[in-house]
Amino acid sequence: MRKPIIAGNWKMFKTRDEALQFILAVYDKMPSQEKVDSVICSQFTVLRCLVKRQGENLRIGAQNMHFEDSGAFTGEVSADMLKSIGVTYVIIGHSERRAMFNETDESVNKKLHKAFEKELTPILCVGESLEQRENGKVEEFIGNQLKLDLAGLTKEQVKELVIAYEPIWAIGTGKTATSQVADETCGFIRSMIKELYDQETADAIRIQYGGSVKTSNIDELMSMPNIDGALIGGASLKADDFVKLVNAAVK
Ligand code: 13P
Repeated sequence: MRKPIIAGNWKMFKTRDEALQFILAVYDKMPSQEKVDSVICSQFTVLRCLVKRQGENLRIGAQNMHFEDSGAFTGEVSADMLKSIGVTYVIIGHSERRAMFNETDESVNKKLHKAFEKELTPILCVGESLEQRENGKVEEFIGNQLKLDLAGLTKEQVKELVIAYEPIWAIGTGKTATSQVADETCGFIRSMIKELYDQETADAIRIQYGGSVKTSNIDELMSMPNIDGALIGGASLKADDFVKLVNAAVK
């Protein structure tokens, strides 16, 4: 039995006051960590503000980090810096970073190695474009992403990894993949993990779906056998909705 994991990805939203208002509204309404892992991934400036108020059953993640320990990398943040303020998760390879900020499978792979070395739990994002889906290239594309992104990671590490399947055409568009399509692709990702590692690893790894997840479709998505949680953008910005989304995972 895999424990569900619901994570909000706030992207470039919320000032400190807005973040503070949100965390004060949700921190004591999260279900037990024994039943579901609840995570908010914010931009760097409010991470500490959230960590200080996360309560017992909520954890805080970053949306990116650098793969080097330190150095002349203006504007970047290291794994140690995140650890030192109590961050426990980090999103790696979100499609927006791949499309707009030169994130490559090579840098994603280096970041995953660094995150594990520093004991941060990475949420690795993979997913195809609309063109790739229409041309029947989903498995080829995601299979290749996984091979490159996971290169050199051990079975023990991959068991702790969270993968978010986020079809690019469903992000922020209001177009959710049908639960069947989402489940089928998450199932394909699991079969790739079996091929690259083994059955035990494939059974252990948690795979989220992301792309226009909201309170009205979470129940159906969570009922699918290969979907272990959700990575949620827009709908995670509202405190009431986030509480509902997290609670949907424990039903
Ligand atoms: P939306 O939920 O806003 O579609 O965003 C999905 C996403 O990119 C989460 O990482």
